[in-house]
Amino acid sequence: MTEVLLETRAICKRFGALQASKEVSLSLRAGEIHALIGPNGAGKSTLIAQISGALAPDSGSVIFEGRDITRLPTPARAKAGLARTFQISALAMEFTVLQNVVLGTLGARGGVYRFFGNVMRDKALLDRAEDALDQVGLSEFRNFVTAELSHGQRRQLEVAVALSLQPRVFVMDEPMAGLGAEGSHRLTGFLDGLRQRAPILLVEHDMDAVFALADRISVLVYGEVIATGTAAEIRANPEVREAYLGEEDAA
Ligand SMILES: Nc1ncnc2c1ncn2[C@@H]1O[C@H](COP(=O)(O)OP(=O)(O)OP(=O)(O)O)[C@@H](O)[C@H]1O
Ligand SMILES: [Mg+2]
Repeated sequence: MTEVLLETRAICKRFGALQASKEVSLSLRAGEIHALIGPNGAGKSTLIAQISGALAPDSGSVIFEGRDITRLPTPARAKAGLARTFQISALAMEFTVLQNVVLGTLGARGGVYRFFGNVMRDKALLDRAEDALDQVGLSEFRNFVTAELSHGQRRQLEVAVALSLQPRVFVMDEPMAGLGAEGSHRLTGFLDGLRQRAPILLVEHDMDAVFALADRISVLVYGEVIATGTAAEIRANPEVREAYLGEEDAA
C-alpha cells in the first residue's frame, strides 16, 4: 500500500443551515495527483481551508504524515510541509516578483516583515526563491513589479511561492483559473512533473487538466464526496455524470 501523506477523516463543517462539508474523508498518497472536482459551491475551497488551517472543522480530523494537525495553526502546518495556493490571488502587487516569493514563503511560515530589508539579504532564502522562479519559468521577470505580470504569470508566481516552501505536499485551489489554453497547457505539464517531488491535492474546474493529470479523482457535491476513483472510473460513474459531468457530455 502506498504511503498516505495527508488525510481528512469525516470532516464536517456547517455555515448556519448550510452543510458545507459532510463527513469528508479523503487521502493523498505519495507520488499522486488527487483531483477534487465538483460544482460551484460544492465546498471544495471550504475543505481546502480546513486542511490548511484557515477554517476549523466542526468535527472530524486532518492527519498529516500520521500526525493529527486539526488544531495546529496555519503557519505551523506550512512549516511542517503543507503548502497551499489560493483560488484568488494572494500576491502583493506593488512588490517585485522575487520579493513576493520571499514574502510569501516567510508569511506562510508565520514570519514577520519588520526586517524585510534584511530578509532580502538572506542568501539561502533568496537562492530558494530564485530557484523556484526558475522552475516555473519566471526568472527573467524577477525584478518586475508584480502588477506588471499577466494573469497567467501571476498564477505561475503563486506556484513558485508554494515551491519555495519545499513542501511535503501541495494543496492547490484552481491554479488554472483564468489561464488561457496555452497557460493551462504549460501549467499542466509542470504539475505533471511536480507530483514526483510532492503529491498534489488539486481543486480544479479545468476538466482537460484534471483528466490529463489525476491519478485519482474525488467528486464533491453539496459538501459530500459522492465518488473517488481513477479518471476512467469517474467518467463511467452514473451518479457523477448526473450530478456533475452530465452537462458536459450533453454539450
Ligand atoms: N465563511 C462562510 N460563511 C458562510 N458560508 C460560506 C462561507 N464560506 C463558504 N460558504 C458557503 O459554503 C458553500 C461552499 O463554498 P466553497 O467556496 O467551499 O465552494 P467551492 O466548491 O469552492 O465553489 P467554487 O467552485 O465556486 O470555488 C457555498 O454555498 C458558500 O456560499
Ligand atoms: Mg472554490
